[in-house]
Amino acid sequence: MTAKLLDGKALANHIRQTIQQQVQARLAQGLRAPGLAVVLVGENPASQVYVRHKRNACAEVGIVSKAYNLPLDTSQMQLLDLLDQLNEDPEIDGILVQLPLPAQIDTETVIERIVPHKDVDGFHPYNVGRLVLRMPLLRSCTPKGIMTLLAHANLSLEGQDAIIIGQSNIVGRPMALELLAARCTITVCHSRTRELAAKVRNADLVVVAIGKPQLVTGDWIKPGAVVIDVGMNRLDNGRLVGDVDFDSVSKHASWITPVPGGVGPMTVASLLENTLQAAQPRTI
Ligand code: GUN
Repeated sequence: MTAKLLDGKALANHIRQTIQQQVQARLAQGLRAPGLAVVLVGENPASQVYVRHKRNACAEVGIVSKAYNLPLDTSQMQLLDLLDQLNEDPEIDGILVQLPLPAQIDTETVIERIVPHKDVDGFHPYNVGRLVLRMPLLRSCTPKGIMTLLAHANLSLEGQDAIIIGQSNIVGRPMALELLAARCTITVCHSRTRELAAKVRNADLVVVAIGKPQLVTGDWIKPGAVVIDVGMNRLDNGRLVGDVDFDSVSKHASWITPVPGGVGPMTVASLLENTLQAAQPRTI
């Protein structure tokens, strides 16, 4: 078997065009463009790349993004003060604080300071809780993007055995909640999981977000499984690879996401969707 590609780049392009039209429609009604505040503390090179992609995507669709690039030694109080201002700012619909934050700042305190209706990352306990209860409002961008990609390929999830490798707050946990809401049976694996390969061999859907280059190999994959690779790892030779060994896994899977061009562009597309959603009048 040779797996078909889940082309996140193409679908994200399509989503951006739709969002651009929706932003234009707002302007035609006399409403202002949606506004996103993008907060970056320090100069983590990977974070700088991600933030640049997000801001470029905003510019392309007509969302106004305002950059707040703070020095590495920013105190927690200074960051919380900025968030208080942004929470009150009528021209800001969404607030994104790029993670990770420097050690002197407590991430959970920062996330909780963002008002939930501007939390376009879907990280606030309120938004996570809404997802737990199957009544989501703003959903975490990477899991939401993966769900959109699966839906676009018409892949039926009900009753499927899904395994998620990685239990992070950003990907693994909300991914498990999304797939549970879609009526999959869920296994969440992490660094203490025993017999990982054997567990993966039982799965119809495999989502890998563990940050270990090419961890998952073809001999782990049940024939016909769907494989989603959230990893982005730079090898010593400069090559960008995922957490999945693409060449061997694509011989066994029915569908697979490439790296790059799979999950990454879908994360950004979901952020734009969330920002537009946050700008629309609220119903709850
Ligand atoms: N760091 C890695 N992924 C993300 C993300 O989706 N949002 C934010 N804010 N930070 C991240």
